[in-house]
Amino acid sequence: MIRIKEGYCRLEHRYLFQEVARRVAAFHEASPETDIIRMGIGDVTLPIAPAIIRAMHEAVDDLSVQERFHGYGPEHGYGWLREAVVQGDYASRGITVDPEEVFISDGAKSDLGNILDLFSEENTVGIIDPVYPVYVDTNVIDGRRIKFIPCTEDDGFTGEIPDEKLDIVYLCYPNNPTGAVISRAKLEGWVDYALRNGSLILYDSAYEAFIQDPDIPHSIYEIEGARQCAMEFRSFSKTAGFTGIRCGYTVIPKELRGRNRNGDDVSFNALWERRQGCKFNGASYVSQRGAYAVYSPDGREQTRESIRYYLDNAAVIREGLKRAGLHSSGGENAPYVWARTPGGMDDWEFFDVLLKKAGIVITPGSGFGKAGRGYFRLTSFSDKARTIEAMDRLYNCINEL
Ligand code: MLT
Repeated sequence: MIRIKEGYCRLEHRYLFQEVARRVAAFHEASPETDIIRMGIGDVTLPIAPAIIRAMHEAVDDLSVQERFHGYGPEHGYGWLREAVVQGDYASRGITVDPEEVFISDGAKSDLGNILDLFSEENTVGIIDPVYPVYVDTNVIDGRRIKFIPCTEDDGFTGEIPDEKLDIVYLCYPNNPTGAVISRAKLEGWVDYALRNGSLILYDSAYEAFIQDPDIPHSIYEIEGARQCAMEFRSFSKTAGFTGIRCGYTVIPKELRGRNRNGDDVSFNALWERRQGCKFNGASYVSQRGAYAVYSPDGREQTRESIRYYLDNAAVIREGLKRAGLHSSGGENAPYVWARTPGGMDDWEFFDVLLKKAGIVITPGSGFGKAGRGYFRLTSFSDKARTIEAMDRLYNCINEL
């Protein structure tokens, strides 16, 4: 018999959103007449912006003509998209990033998992809790020691910067699941920590486009010294509705280095280029052309409108939770609202109650880690009318408890 990788046996349960989907499917089968409003997984619902759709149509047409046909693309992404990312997301904010430091991919989730190929299993990993479960599961699979950094309401869900040295630290802001943002001063604290300890920060800013507050940093590279200690992960999924199209990117500054067993310094940029060269064939031409259109004036304007729409939903959710007497946070610079369950109810129990009595899908907080116990997450990615209806149903359901 083939031996399997031990790490898979150490995973304690199903991947969070698979478990949520399993429970919802079982309920739907038992109760097909219930109209279910899904506010669990953060999947977008608005159609993709017209400027992006047009670009993808043109890209498909290119593939139908010999002169414009595209086969394998560069595995790190087409030069025009890497350049557009640099100009649109970094130079426009006064941040220096070289196009060769931008690696286009099929999304941030894959990159966040795949990047671990570069790091020894001996590294210790710091993960804020509650957290996007991908960081935990992928490190459990590899067998790295994880130190959780609990985040609470008191620290605005940004956690205490630890005293001990951790090799790799994951930060995600605007945060999934709490919707919290990080201040410039706190992010400076983390960069300082990483530089002092020789740590590497994996900075997930998939929700950057939702930042409204002008004082909140959009990129870790706004902080001096971050190029020496951080990689940044971004995605077009939530920015431009690409959850089904798939496109994202990772920035790895050229000065970022690790060390091999012989004590030689190795460039992570070169290592990732090597890794992608042997394991990845690039995001599709059509999705990259779509992503490129995100940076056009129309694309910018239209994607901003979608984000506004989702943030308006988040305001409806916050208001609805308040009306129902539930304490909540997030949703102002992020698509997620994080709330306490009523009367301290167990969050999976509350998930079942809301599903069965109100037909609403939420994500239980403990699915994001121990510090999420007694909380739940709502996403603002539904339709406006459905969001309003969900909050009415939630209000009635809580009043009947
Ligand atoms: C979420 O709901 O947390 C996200 O949609 C999951 C993801 O981006 O993979």
